[in-house]
Amino acid sequence: MPRQRVVSPELISSDEESFNQTLRPPTLEEYIGQKREVEKLSIALTAAKNRGEALEHTLFHGPPGLGKTTLANIIANVLGTKITVTSGPALERTGDLMGILTNLGERDVLFVDEIHRLPVNIEEFLYPAMEDFKVDFVVDKGMFAKTINVPLKKFTLVGATTRAGSLSAPLRNRFGLFYHLDFYTVDELAQIVTRSAGILEIKITRESAAEIARRARGTPRVANRLLRRVRDYAEVKATGEITAEITRAALELEGVDDRGLDHLDRGFLSAIIRMYKGGPVGVEALSATLNEEVDTLVDMVEPYLLQQGFISRTKAGRKANEPAYEHLGLPLPRNEVPAPPGLFD
Ligand code: ADE
Repeated sequence: MPRQRVVSPELISSDEESFNQTLRPPTLEEYIGQKREVEKLSIALTAAKNRGEALEHTLFHGPPGLGKTTLANIIANVLGTKITVTSGPALERTGDLMGILTNLGERDVLFVDEIHRLPVNIEEFLYPAMEDFKVDFVVDKGMFAKTINVPLKKFTLVGATTRAGSLSAPLRNRFGLFYHLDFYTVDELAQIVTRSAGILEIKITRESAAEIARRARGTPRVANRLLRRVRDYAEVKATGEITAEITRAALELEGVDDRGLDHLDRGFLSAIIRMYKGGPVGVEALSATLNEEVDTLVDMVEPYLLQQGFISRTKAGRKANEPAYEHLGLPLPRNEVPAPPGLFD
């Protein structure tokens, strides 16, 4: 099993899922961040609601932990309909999907997480469901096989994916609305932490909320998880009130540094610099050096390091940039061309 990281953008326990549910904004008005995408969604949603129609099929794409599930829940909530949640890898047999689809009511939401991982047979079964709100279900086998055509209610499929590029064209073309979620700013994350602390009745200073936000890697799920760790620390080691000092001590103990990097991130940067002279180096080589799976590095480590400018991805492999040397306190190689001013500010 891969090691659990306190800064992982993925859910790390089922307990965390129920914890997050209490913190999820129920409406777009309460949703912090992703301004443009939220405004576009708000217009589409209000228009559909006013016309009494289902929302068009909607695809959310972007890194994990940024609010794709939250937005799917908000859609059903605003329409006053039901949401059924499943995921690409969980759907194995057409029979399972048939059951889910025929149970959907008018304007209900079917949320399919990790939709890029749907098996091909399930994906093909979905096409007529999305396009014509019907399914062709084959019953019996051999010479007794017959297709029954089952009409469905007008529902909305909401898909979520971390890799929009790996969706097949026929599936992608059946979505009407596309929204890309991006990493949150520190200011937005601080607002989210403050809002969550309010719901949880935790006393927190502005400075502490900002401190948690700076270390949350642009990801609300990480911010809320760090808030939990800091709350525990404050209750056990102090009076329960969260001060900046307590926050820094708690997060230092968790191994999360002032830019939100943990042991694995620093190990990744350090390997590129120390073992491969700053790169370029292929991800497979790094995977072997660090004894971590390639997928873990590509999905969970690199996105934030790329976004922060610590590394670049080139045709020849991964390269460490100047901020990576600075962050680790290592000297720049002599032939390193300094980054243009402002690029990494
Ligand atoms: N909790 C998690 N994500 C949030 C967001 N984007 N806005 C408000 N609260 C949140």
